[in-house]
Amino acid sequence: MSFKKDFFWGAATAAYQIEGAYNEDGKGLNIWDEFCTAKGKIERFENGNAACDHYHRYKEDVKLMAEMGLKAYRFSISWARILPEGSGRINSKGIEFYNNLIDELLKYNITPFVTLYHWDLPYVLHQKGGWLNPESTKWFEEYTTVVAKNFGDRVKNFITFNEPSVFMMLGYGDGTHAPGLTMNTKDILQVGHNIHMAHGKAVRVLREYVKDCKVGITVATQPKIPLTKDDEEMAYDAYFYSGLGGFAWAQSYWLDPIVFGHYPEQLLKEAGDLFPAFSAGDMELINEKIDFIGLNIYEAQYCGKGDCNLKQGYPHTELGWGTYDKALKWGVLHNWKRYNLPIIITENGISTHDWVHLDGKVHDSNRIDFLHRYLKGLKESTEMGCQVDGYFHWSLMDNFEWAKGYNPRFGLIYINYQTMERTMKDSAFWYKEVIQSNGENL
Ligand code: BGC
Repeated sequence: MSFKKDFFWGAATAAYQIEGAYNEDGKGLNIWDEFCTAKGKIERFENGNAACDHYHRYKEDVKLMAEMGLKAYRFSISWARILPEGSGRINSKGIEFYNNLIDELLKYNITPFVTLYHWDLPYVLHQKGGWLNPESTKWFEEYTTVVAKNFGDRVKNFITFNEPSVFMMLGYGDGTHAPGLTMNTKDILQVGHNIHMAHGKAVRVLREYVKDCKVGITVATQPKIPLTKDDEEMAYDAYFYSGLGGFAWAQSYWLDPIVFGHYPEQLLKEAGDLFPAFSAGDMELINEKIDFIGLNIYEAQYCGKGDCNLKQGYPHTELGWGTYDKALKWGVLHNWKRYNLPIIITENGISTHDWVHLDGKVHDSNRIDFLHRYLKGLKESTEMGCQVDGYFHWSLMDNFEWAKGYNPRFGLIYINYQTMERTMKDSAFWYKEVIQSNGENL
Protein backbone atom coordinates (compact mmCIF):
# COMPACT_ATOMS: atom_id res chain seq x y z
CA MET A 1 0.00 0.00 0.00
CA SER A 2 1.16 3.54 -0.74
CA PHE A 3 -0.36 6.59 0.96
CA LYS A 4 -3.84 5.99 2.42
CA LYS A 5 -6.83 7.45 0.63
CA ASP A 6 -7.59 9.81 3.49
CA PHE A 7 -3.95 10.71 4.17
CA PHE A 8 -3.58 14.05 5.95
CA TRP A 9 -1.41 16.14 3.64
CA GLY A 10 -0.80 19.25 5.66
CA ALA A 11 1.43 22.01 6.90
CA ALA A 12 2.19 23.18 10.42
CA THR A 13 2.74 26.37 12.40
CA ALA A 14 2.84 27.48 16.03
CA ALA A 15 1.06 30.40 17.70
CA TYR A 16 4.03 32.42 18.91
CA GLN A 17 5.86 32.00 15.62
CA ILE A 18 3.10 33.42 13.40
CA GLU A 19 0.27 35.16 15.25
CA GLY A 20 1.74 38.47 16.39
CA ALA A 21 -0.85 40.69 18.14
CA TYR A 22 1.06 39.89 21.29
CA ASN A 23 -0.83 42.35 23.48
CA GLU A 24 -4.11 42.73 21.64
CA ASP A 25 -7.68 41.87 22.59
CA GLY A 26 -6.83 40.90 26.14
CA LYS A 27 -4.06 38.39 25.51
CA GLY A 28 -1.78 37.81 28.51
CA LEU A 29 1.99 37.69 28.20
CA ASN A 30 3.80 34.40 27.87
CA ILE A 31 7.39 33.33 28.53
CA TRP A 32 8.44 34.09 24.94
CA ASP A 33 7.01 37.62 25.04
CA GLU A 34 9.13 38.13 28.12
CA PHE A 35 12.24 36.24 26.97
CA CYS A 36 12.47 38.31 23.78
CA THR A 37 12.85 41.47 25.81
CA ALA A 38 16.03 40.12 27.45
CA LYS A 39 19.13 41.47 25.76
CA GLY A 40 21.20 39.08 23.70
CA LYS A 41 18.79 36.16 23.78
CA ILE A 42 17.37 36.51 20.26
CA GLU A 43 19.43 37.26 17.18
CA ARG A 44 19.18 40.90 16.09
CA PHE A 45 16.90 41.49 19.13
CA GLU A 46 13.92 40.29 17.12
CA ASN A 47 10.66 39.16 18.72
CA GLY A 48 7.25 37.70 17.94
CA ASN A 49 5.29 40.88 18.69
CA ALA A 50 4.07 41.14 15.11
CA ALA A 51 5.44 37.85 13.64
CA CYS A 52 3.46 37.14 10.43
CA ASP A 53 0.44 39.07 11.66
CA HIS A 54 -1.57 35.88 11.20
CA TYR A 55 -3.95 37.05 13.94
CA HIS A 56 -5.30 39.66 11.54
CA ARG A 57 -4.63 37.82 8.28
CA TYR A 58 -5.85 34.32 9.07
CA LYS A 59 -8.49 34.47 6.34
CA GLU A 60 -5.91 35.20 3.67
CA ASP A 61 -3.71 32.43 5.09
CA VAL A 62 -6.48 29.83 5.07
CA LYS A 63 -7.26 30.80 1.49
CA LEU A 64 -3.64 30.12 0.54
CA MET A 65 -3.85 26.74 2.28
CA ALA A 66 -6.91 25.94 0.20
CA GLU A 67 -5.14 27.06 -2.96
CA MET A 68 -2.33 24.65 -2.09
CA GLY A 69 -4.86 21.88 -1.67
CA LEU A 70 -3.99 21.18 1.96
CA LYS A 71 -6.17 18.53 3.58
CA ALA A 72 -5.10 19.41 7.12
CA TYR A 73 -3.53 22.22 9.10
CA ARG A 74 -1.64 21.88 12.37
CA PHE A 75 -1.53 24.98 14.55
CA SER A 76 -1.10 25.65 18.25
CA ILE A 77 -3.25 27.59 20.64
CA SER A 78 -1.74 30.43 22.61
CA TRP A 79 -2.59 29.53 26.21
CA ALA A 80 -2.26 33.15 27.37
CA ARG A 81 -4.58 34.34 24.61
CA ILE A 82 -7.48 32.33 25.98
CA LEU A 83 -6.47 32.31 29.67
CA PRO A 84 -4.51 35.53 30.21
CA GLU A 85 -3.65 34.61 33.80
CA GLY A 86 -2.93 30.99 32.91
CA SER A 87 -5.99 29.77 34.78
CA GLY A 88 -9.32 31.18 35.91
CA ARG A 89 -10.61 34.01 33.77
CA ILE A 90 -11.33 33.16 30.11
CA ASN A 91 -10.67 35.80 27.44
CA SER A 92 -13.66 35.65 25.10
CA LYS A 93 -11.80 37.54 22.37
CA GLY A 94 -9.16 34.83 22.34
CA ILE A 95 -11.79 32.12 22.07
CA GLU A 96 -13.40 34.07 19.25
CA PHE A 97 -10.16 34.20 17.28
CA TYR A 98 -9.72 30.42 17.35
CA ASN A 99 -13.41 29.85 16.63
CA ASN A 100 -13.09 32.00 13.54
CA LEU A 101 -9.91 30.26 12.43
CA ILE A 102 -11.44 26.79 12.90
CA ASP A 103 -14.62 27.76 11.06
CA GLU A 104 -12.60 29.22 8.21
CA LEU A 105 -10.61 25.97 7.91
CA LEU A 106 -13.74 23.85 7.90
CA LYS A 107 -15.26 26.06 5.22
CA TYR A 108 -12.49 24.80 2.91
CA ASN A 109 -12.60 21.21 4.21
CA ILE A 110 -9.22 21.56 5.89
CA THR A 111 -9.02 19.35 8.98
CA PRO A 112 -7.69 21.21 12.03
CA PHE A 113 -4.99 19.55 14.18
CA VAL A 114 -4.55 21.46 17.42
CA THR A 115 -1.31 21.44 19.39
CA LEU A 116 -2.09 22.38 22.97
CA TYR A 117 1.41 23.39 23.97
CA HIS A 118 3.98 24.74 21.55
CA TRP A 119 6.27 26.33 24.15
CA ASP A 120 4.45 29.53 25.14
CA LEU A 121 3.62 29.13 28.83
CA PRO A 122 1.67 32.07 30.32
CA TYR A 123 4.20 34.26 32.12
CA VAL A 124 2.26 34.31 35.38
CA LEU A 125 2.52 30.52 35.56
CA HIS A 126 6.25 30.75 35.03
CA GLN A 127 6.37 33.09 38.00
CA LYS A 128 4.71 30.34 40.03
CA GLY A 129 7.49 27.91 39.11
CA GLY A 130 6.42 26.89 35.60
CA TRP A 131 6.87 23.26 34.64
CA LEU A 132 9.00 22.57 37.72
CA ASN A 133 5.94 23.09 39.92
CA PRO A 134 3.88 19.86 40.14
CA GLU A 135 0.80 22.14 40.11
CA SER A 136 1.58 22.70 36.43
CA THR A 137 -0.21 19.43 35.66
CA LYS A 138 -3.41 20.94 37.08
CA TRP A 139 -2.97 24.20 35.18
CA PHE A 140 -2.57 22.24 31.98
CA GLU A 141 -5.62 20.14 32.79
CA GLU A 142 -7.72 23.27 33.25
CA TYR A 143 -6.40 24.85 30.05
CA THR A 144 -7.12 21.64 28.12
CA THR A 145 -10.66 21.61 29.50
CA VAL A 146 -11.24 25.13 28.16
CA VAL A 147 -9.90 24.08 24.75
CA ALA A 148 -11.95 20.88 24.68
CA LYS A 149 -15.20 22.56 25.74
CA ASN A 150 -14.89 25.46 23.31
CA PHE A 151 -13.46 23.80 20.22
CA GLY A 152 -14.09 20.07 20.68
CA ASP A 153 -17.33 20.19 18.71
CA ARG A 154 -15.28 20.90 15.57
CA VAL A 155 -11.68 19.93 16.38
CA LYS A 156 -11.15 16.18 16.72
CA ASN A 157 -7.37 15.84 16.40
CA PHE A 158 -5.15 16.93 19.25
CA ILE A 159 -1.46 16.93 20.07
CA THR A 160 -0.77 17.50 23.75
CA PHE A 161 2.85 18.67 23.63
CA ASN A 162 5.21 19.72 20.89
CA GLU A 163 8.77 18.46 21.36
CA PRO A 164 8.99 18.24 25.15
CA SER A 165 12.71 17.42 24.86
CA VAL A 166 13.41 20.73 23.16
CA PHE A 167 11.48 23.08 25.43
CA MET A 168 12.72 21.21 28.48
CA MET A 169 16.41 21.16 27.55
CA LEU A 170 16.61 24.55 25.85
CA GLY A 171 14.25 26.30 28.23
CA TYR A 172 15.37 24.70 31.50
CA GLY A 173 18.70 23.07 30.63
CA ASP A 174 20.97 25.40 28.66
CA GLY A 175 18.72 28.46 28.84
CA THR A 176 18.87 29.33 25.14
CA HIS A 177 15.07 29.29 24.89
CA ALA A 178 12.38 30.73 27.16
CA PRO A 179 12.26 30.87 30.10
CA GLY A 180 16.08 30.84 29.93
CA LEU A 181 16.82 28.72 33.00
CA THR A 182 19.74 26.38 33.64
CA MET A 183 18.62 23.69 36.05
CA ASN A 184 20.40 20.68 37.50
CA THR A 185 19.58 17.14 36.39
CA LYS A 186 17.35 16.41 39.38
CA ASP A 187 15.13 19.38 38.62
CA ILE A 188 15.06 18.61 34.93
CA LEU A 189 13.89 15.08 35.71
CA GLN A 190 11.12 16.63 37.80
CA VAL A 191 10.14 18.92 34.92
CA GLY A 192 10.06 15.87 32.64
CA HIS A 193 7.85 13.92 35.02
CA ASN A 194 5.47 16.88 35.34
CA ILE A 195 5.20 17.09 31.56
CA HIS A 196 4.43 13.37 31.37
CA MET A 197 1.73 13.78 34.03
CA ALA A 198 0.28 16.86 32.35
CA HIS A 199 0.10 14.91 29.10
CA GLY A 200 -1.84 12.09 30.81
CA LYS A 201 -4.28 14.52 32.39
CA ALA A 202 -4.87 16.25 29.07
CA VAL A 203 -5.60 12.92 27.37
CA ARG A 204 -8.22 12.12 30.05
CA VAL A 205 -9.85 15.53 29.67
CA LEU A 206 -10.01 15.22 25.89
CA ARG A 207 -11.55 11.73 26.10
CA GLU A 208 -14.17 13.08 28.49
CA TYR A 209 -15.25 16.11 26.49
CA VAL A 210 -14.50 15.13 22.90
CA LYS A 211 -15.83 11.60 22.57
CA ASP A 212 -14.65 10.97 19.03
CA CYS A 213 -11.22 12.59 19.35
CA LYS A 214 -7.79 11.34 18.31
CA VAL A 215 -4.96 12.30 20.65
CA GLY A 216 -1.21 12.05 20.31
CA ILE A 217 2.02 13.66 21.41
CA THR A 218 4.75 15.05 19.17
CA VAL A 219 8.39 14.26 19.83
CA ALA A 220 11.48 15.70 18.19
CA THR A 221 13.61 12.88 16.93
CA GLN A 222 16.72 12.13 14.92
CA PRO A 223 16.28 8.62 13.57
CA LYS A 224 19.30 6.35 13.35
CA ILE A 225 19.72 5.17 9.78
CA PRO A 226 21.53 1.86 9.34
CA LEU A 227 24.14 1.96 6.58
CA THR A 228 23.70 -1.72 5.76
CA LYS A 229 21.24 -4.49 6.60
CA ASP A 230 23.68 -5.76 9.23
CA ASP A 231 23.53 -2.43 11.05
CA GLU A 232 19.75 -2.43 11.51
CA GLU A 233 19.68 -3.97 14.96
CA MET A 234 22.39 -1.70 16.28
CA ALA A 235 20.60 1.36 14.87
CA TYR A 236 17.35 0.29 16.52
CA ASP A 237 18.97 -0.39 19.89
CA ALA A 238 20.93 2.85 19.85
CA TYR A 239 17.84 4.80 18.84
CA PHE A 240 15.81 3.59 21.82
CA TYR A 241 18.60 3.52 24.39
CA SER A 242 18.10 5.78 27.39
CA GLY A 243 20.59 6.04 30.26
CA LEU A 244 21.06 9.21 32.30
CA GLY A 245 23.40 10.87 29.80
CA GLY A 246 21.27 12.66 27.22
CA PHE A 247 18.07 11.02 28.50
CA ALA A 248 15.92 13.96 27.45
CA TRP A 249 16.76 13.38 23.79
CA ALA A 250 15.98 9.67 23.93
CA GLN A 251 12.86 8.52 22.16
CA SER A 252 12.16 5.94 24.87
CA TYR A 253 12.30 8.48 27.71
CA TRP A 254 9.19 10.16 26.31
CA LEU A 255 7.35 7.32 24.64
CA ASP A 256 7.99 4.20 26.74
CA PRO A 257 6.14 5.61 29.77
CA ILE A 258 3.28 6.79 27.57
CA VAL A 259 2.90 3.62 25.50
CA PHE A 260 4.19 0.93 27.89
CA GLY A 261 3.62 2.58 31.26
CA HIS A 262 7.20 2.56 32.53
CA TYR A 263 10.32 4.70 32.33
CA PRO A 264 13.39 3.08 30.73
CA GLU A 265 15.03 0.75 33.25
CA GLN A 266 18.60 1.83 32.55
CA LEU A 267 17.68 5.46 33.16
CA LEU A 268 16.02 4.66 36.49
CA LYS A 269 19.05 2.65 37.54
CA GLU A 270 21.55 5.36 36.63
CA ALA A 271 19.46 8.24 37.99
CA GLY A 272 18.82 6.62 41.37
CA ASP A 273 17.75 9.28 43.88
CA LEU A 274 17.84 11.97 41.26
CA PHE A 275 14.66 10.53 39.77
CA PRO A 276 11.48 12.07 41.21
CA ALA A 277 9.29 9.80 43.32
CA PHE A 278 6.30 8.47 41.39
CA SER A 279 3.39 6.19 42.21
CA ALA A 280 1.66 3.38 40.32
CA GLY A 281 -1.20 5.84 39.83
CA ASP A 282 1.16 8.32 38.16
CA MET A 283 2.27 5.67 35.71
CA GLU A 284 -1.30 4.67 34.99
CA LEU A 285 -2.11 8.28 34.19
CA ILE A 286 0.92 8.69 31.93
CA ASN A 287 -0.01 5.41 30.24
CA GLU A 288 -3.45 6.66 29.10
CA LYS A 289 -4.05 5.28 25.64
CA ILE A 290 -3.04 7.55 22.77
CA ASP A 291 -4.12 7.19 19.14
CA PHE A 292 -1.00 8.21 17.26
CA ILE A 293 2.61 9.20 17.65
CA GLY A 294 3.67 12.53 16.16
CA LEU A 295 7.23 12.69 14.87
CA ASN A 296 9.12 15.89 14.06
CA ILE A 297 12.02 14.89 11.88
CA TYR A 298 14.65 17.16 10.35
CA GLU A 299 18.02 15.51 10.84
CA ALA A 300 19.16 11.94 11.41
CA GLN A 301 22.33 9.96 12.13
CA TYR A 302 23.95 7.19 10.18
CA CYS A 303 24.84 3.99 11.97
CA GLY A 304 27.46 1.62 10.71
CA LYS A 305 30.72 -0.05 11.57
CA GLY A 306 29.81 0.03 15.25
CA ASP A 307 29.40 3.80 15.33
CA CYS A 308 26.28 5.94 15.30
CA ASN A 309 27.82 9.36 14.88
CA LEU A 310 29.47 9.16 11.51
CA LYS A 311 30.37 12.54 10.10
CA GLN A 312 30.61 12.25 6.39
CA GLY A 313 30.22 15.74 4.99
CA TYR A 314 26.64 15.26 3.89
CA PRO A 315 24.80 18.20 2.29
CA HIS A 316 23.44 20.75 4.72
CA THR A 317 20.76 23.40 4.92
CA GLU A 318 20.93 27.16 5.47
CA LEU A 319 20.98 26.50 9.23
CA GLY A 320 23.84 24.03 8.78
CA TRP A 321 21.61 21.03 9.46
CA GLY A 322 22.41 17.81 7.59
CA THR A 323 19.93 16.37 5.10
CA TYR A 324 19.08 12.68 5.14
CA ASP A 325 16.87 11.20 2.43
CA LYS A 326 15.91 8.19 4.53
CA ALA A 327 15.21 10.07 7.77
CA LEU A 328 11.41 9.80 7.55
CA LYS A 329 11.60 6.20 6.42
CA TRP A 330 13.66 5.07 9.40
CA GLY A 331 11.81 7.28 11.85
CA VAL A 332 8.64 5.49 10.86
CA LEU A 333 10.15 1.99 10.71
CA HIS A 334 11.77 2.15 14.15
CA ASN A 335 8.75 3.67 15.89
CA TRP A 336 6.24 1.41 14.20
CA LYS A 337 8.27 -1.64 15.18
CA ARG A 338 8.50 -0.64 18.84
CA TYR A 339 5.18 1.04 19.55
CA ASN A 340 2.90 -0.30 16.83
CA LEU A 341 0.82 2.87 16.80
CA PRO A 342 -0.21 4.94 13.77
CA ILE A 343 2.37 7.59 12.99
CA ILE A 344 1.93 11.15 11.81
CA ILE A 345 4.86 13.22 10.64
CA THR A 346 3.90 16.40 12.47
CA GLU A 347 6.90 18.40 11.21
CA ASN A 348 9.57 18.11 8.56
CA GLY A 349 11.11 20.85 6.48
CA ILE A 350 14.13 22.93 5.60
CA SER A 351 15.30 26.50 5.87
CA THR A 352 16.79 27.76 2.63
CA HIS A 353 18.08 31.09 1.31
CA ASP A 354 14.81 32.29 -0.19
CA TRP A 355 13.92 35.67 -1.62
CA VAL A 356 11.52 37.03 -4.22
CA HIS A 357 13.25 36.88 -7.60
CA LEU A 358 13.04 39.60 -10.24
CA ASP A 359 10.15 37.74 -11.84
CA GLY A 360 8.15 38.08 -8.62
CA LYS A 361 8.41 34.38 -7.74
CA VAL A 362 10.32 32.45 -5.09
CA HIS A 363 12.38 29.72 -6.78
CA ASP A 364 13.22 27.44 -3.86
CA SER A 365 14.49 24.43 -5.78
CA ASN A 366 16.45 23.11 -2.80
CA ARG A 367 13.26 22.82 -0.75
CA ILE A 368 11.54 20.93 -3.57
CA ASP A 369 14.41 18.48 -3.87
CA PHE A 370 14.64 18.02 -0.09
CA LEU A 371 10.92 17.40 0.15
CA HIS A 372 10.98 15.02 -2.80
CA ARG A 373 13.74 12.93 -1.24
CA TYR A 374 12.22 12.82 2.24
CA LEU A 375 8.74 12.03 0.95
CA LYS A 376 10.04 9.19 -1.22
CA GLY A 377 11.49 7.70 1.95
CA LEU A 378 8.18 8.15 3.74
CA LYS A 379 6.40 6.43 0.90
CA GLU A 380 8.76 3.46 1.16
CA SER A 381 7.84 3.04 4.83
CA THR A 382 4.13 2.91 3.96
CA GLU A 383 4.84 0.36 1.22
CA MET A 384 6.62 -1.75 3.82
CA GLY A 385 3.37 -1.92 5.79
CA CYS A 386 3.74 0.79 8.44
CA GLN A 387 0.66 2.86 9.19
CA VAL A 388 1.34 6.52 8.48
CA ASP A 389 -1.72 8.77 8.71
CA GLY A 390 -0.32 12.14 7.71
CA TYR A 391 2.51 14.46 6.83
CA PHE A 392 2.69 18.11 7.94
CA HIS A 393 5.31 20.25 6.32
CA TRP A 394 7.14 22.72 8.54
CA SER A 395 6.16 25.29 7.87
CA LEU A 396 3.14 26.72 6.14
CA MET A 397 4.86 30.09 6.06
CA ASP A 398 8.18 31.68 6.99
CA ASN A 399 8.07 32.66 10.65
CA PHE A 400 9.84 33.58 13.87
CA GLU A 401 12.44 30.83 14.34
CA TRP A 402 12.79 31.27 18.12
CA ALA A 403 16.28 32.39 19.22
CA LYS A 404 17.32 32.64 15.57
CA GLY A 405 14.74 35.29 14.77
CA TYR A 406 13.44 35.80 11.25
CA ASN A 407 16.45 34.91 9.11
CA PRO A 408 15.79 31.19 8.73
CA ARG A 409 12.97 30.67 6.25
CA PHE A 410 11.13 27.37 6.57
CA GLY A 411 7.89 28.29 4.77
CA LEU A 412 6.06 27.07 1.71
CA ILE A 413 4.84 30.66 1.67
CA TYR A 414 7.28 33.56 1.68
CA ILE A 415 6.61 36.42 4.09
CA ASN A 416 7.78 39.95 3.41
CA TYR A 417 8.06 41.13 7.02
CA GLN A 418 7.94 44.81 6.03
CA THR A 419 4.69 44.64 4.08
CA MET A 420 3.38 41.28 5.38
CA GLU A 421 2.78 40.33 1.77
CA ARG A 422 2.53 36.57 1.19
CA THR A 423 4.00 34.81 -1.87
CA MET A 424 3.56 31.11 -2.56
CA LYS A 425 7.00 29.65 -3.24
CA ASP A 426 7.64 27.20 -6.09
CA SER A 427 7.65 24.44 -3.46
CA ALA A 428 4.05 25.26 -2.56
CA PHE A 429 2.98 24.59 -6.15
CA TRP A 430 5.08 21.43 -6.24
CA TYR A 431 3.56 20.20 -2.97
CA LYS A 432 0.11 20.89 -4.40
CA GLU A 433 0.80 18.38 -7.17
CA VAL A 434 1.99 15.80 -4.68
CA ILE A 435 -1.24 16.23 -2.74
CA GLN A 436 -3.35 16.03 -5.88
CA SER A 437 -1.75 12.74 -6.89
CA ASN A 438 -1.79 11.49 -3.26
CA GLY A 439 1.95 10.99 -3.53
CA GLU A 440 1.76 8.77 -6.63
CA ASN A 441 4.00 11.19 -8.55
CA LEU A 442 6.88 10.89 -6.09
C1 BGC B 1 9.77 23.25 16.32
C2 BGC B 1 9.41 24.45 15.49
C3 BGC B 1 10.65 25.01 14.83
C4 BGC B 1 11.19 23.97 13.88
C5 BGC B 1 12.44 24.38 13.12
C6 BGC B 1 10.82 22.37 15.70
O1 BGC B 1 11.84 22.20 16.63
O2 BGC B 1 8.65 22.54 16.71
O3 BGC B 1 8.77 25.37 16.31
O4 BGC B 1 10.44 26.22 14.20
O5 BGC B 1 11.47 22.78 14.56
O6 BGC B 1 13.50 24.59 13.99
